Amino acid sequence: MNKAKRKAVIAGNWKMNKTAAEAAELISALIPEVAGAGCDVVVCTPFTDLPIAVSKTAGTNIAVGAQNVHFEKSGAFTGEISADMLTELGVQYVIIGHSERRQYFGETDITVNKRLKAALAAGLKVILCVGESLEQHQHGVTAELVAMQTKIALGGVSAEELKNVIIAYEPIWAIGTGLTATAEQAEEVCAVIRRVIASLYSEADAEAFTIQYGGSMNAKNADELLAQPDVDGGLIGGASLKAPDFAAIVRAASK
Ligand code: 13P
Repeated sequence: MNKAKRKAVIAGNWKMNKTAAEAAELISALIPEVAGAGCDVVVCTPFTDLPIAVSKTAGTNIAVGAQNVHFEKSGAFTGEISADMLTELGVQYVIIGHSERRQYFGETDITVNKRLKAALAAGLKVILCVGESLEQHQHGVTAELVAMQTKIALGGVSAEELKNVIIAYEPIWAIGTGLTATAEQAEEVCAVIRRVIASLYSEADAEAFTIQYGGSMNAKNADELLAQPDVDGGLIGGASLKAPDFAAIVRAASK
């Protein structure tokens, strides 16, 4: 596998943090810190921050993403946001299937697949999240589970469309807990995901496919995680809320 064949992507998942005014401040601090980065840089903000994030990042190397999208184009879906609403704003990315959506908001592999297809049809780039719980980890079913999540999420997605998909492997037990998967654990599962992509599509598609690790990634552990042959980037929660911390991870991915 040749890592140079794929783009490193560092994405911040701000989750439910930052008002629009705070978002403007964080982005202003981030712009000079990540200018000239050797990887793609994305900030996935709350919906209410998207307009300010798009206008603030115009002409910079920072792309803006949302954290969810509905699969219908419009209609009676109170509280939901459609893909067209995002693209019209200038949003380029969307996170789909984050474990917090699966855990707290009833997201299933089937709805993840529907959202993913709707996002791709609208021209969005998707960061698809997969990952196991602590219990599943302890039962040793991580590889099967992540393979299943990946296969269902990508059902009906063509090889051409796959070019606009990234997968983030996020072990739930490592999210916001300060517990990071070891570099070896992250590598093992990212390699499993790449094999699944090869089996669904082709070796060439798998080699070109970007896979991120997420879960307590920070300035200290980023180097080792990103040095793994199958870890092409990171989806960063807590550490994306402080410009210097996020920038340090971007620098680690730019090496
Ligand atoms: P933390 O980096 O805060 O552990 O969050 C990871 C995550 O869930 C990113 O989507």
